[in-house]
Amino acid sequence: MPFTQPTRIAPSLLAADFARLGEEVRNVVAAGADWIHFDVMDNHYVPNLTIGPMVCEALRPHTDAPIDVHLMVEPVDAIIPQFAKAGANIITFHPEASRHVDRTLSLIREHGCKAGLVFNPATPLHWMDHVMDKLDVVLLMSVNPGFGGQSFIPGTLAKLALARQKIDHWQSAGGQPIALEIDGGVKVDNIAAIRAAGADTFVAGSAIFSQPDYKTVIDALRNEIIKGESLSI
Ligand code: DX5
Ligand code: ZN
Repeated sequence: MPFTQPTRIAPSLLAADFARLGEEVRNVVAAGADWIHFDVMDNHYVPNLTIGPMVCEALRPHTDAPIDVHLMVEPVDAIIPQFAKAGANIITFHPEASRHVDRTLSLIREHGCKAGLVFNPATPLHWMDHVMDKLDVVLLMSVNPGFGGQSFIPGTLAKLALARQKIDHWQSAGGQPIALEIDGGVKVDNIAAIRAAGADTFVAGSAIFSQPDYKTVIDALRNEIIKGESLSI
C-alpha cells in the first residue's frame, strides 16, 4: 500500500489542563501539533459534558492551527453555525445523532468548514457509501466515545484498512481527498500499527498531555508513524 497521504497529529484538548486551555493550545502547537482536536460532549449523546462554541471562540486567537471539532451531541444541526462562527475549521459528527446525514454534511460545508462522519466501534462503514462526495474527513473511534484515557480497541485496525480501501478507491476514481482520522487510545507504542492500517490523522489526548514535554512525545509519535509506513498488515 503506498503511503502518499500527508500525516497529521491532532492533540485532544480533553486531556489538557482546562484551567489553562489557551496556554495549552499554544504550547502544543509550538511542540508540533497539526490540528487541535476539540471534543464536544453534551451529557445526552455521550455520558459526559465538556466544552462548546464559546470556548472555541475564546481559543481561536491563540492559534492558526485548524480546530477540529468532534461533535458528540444530539441533535447536531443547530450547533453547527455556532461552531463555524466560533472559528472551527473542521466539524465531524456521529451519523446516529443526525436524522438527515446528507443534509448535516452539506450544512457544515455551507458554513465554510470541512465536514466529516465519525464511526463508533460498532457503527458500520456503509454510512459513508452514499455521501462520499460530501466528506472531507472520516473519523474512526477506537474507543467508545465519552472519555479520554481508554484502551485502543484492536479490531479498529481491520476497520481502518477497510476505510482506507474505500477512500483510495474513491480518490483513484477522481474523488476529492478525504482524511482518515483515528481517535482513542493512540499511543507511541501502537501508532505505527495504526499508520500501517491506513490512518493519516492521529488524535492523541492522554498520550500527549500526560507528559511533561509535548515536543518529545509528538516527535516520538512522528517517528513511529514513519516506521509504520514500512510495516505491512
Ligand atoms: C473520546 C474523545 C477522544 C479522547 C481521546 O470520546 O473523542 O478524542 O479525548 O483521548 P485519549 O487519546 O486519551 O484516548
Ligand atoms: Zn474526539
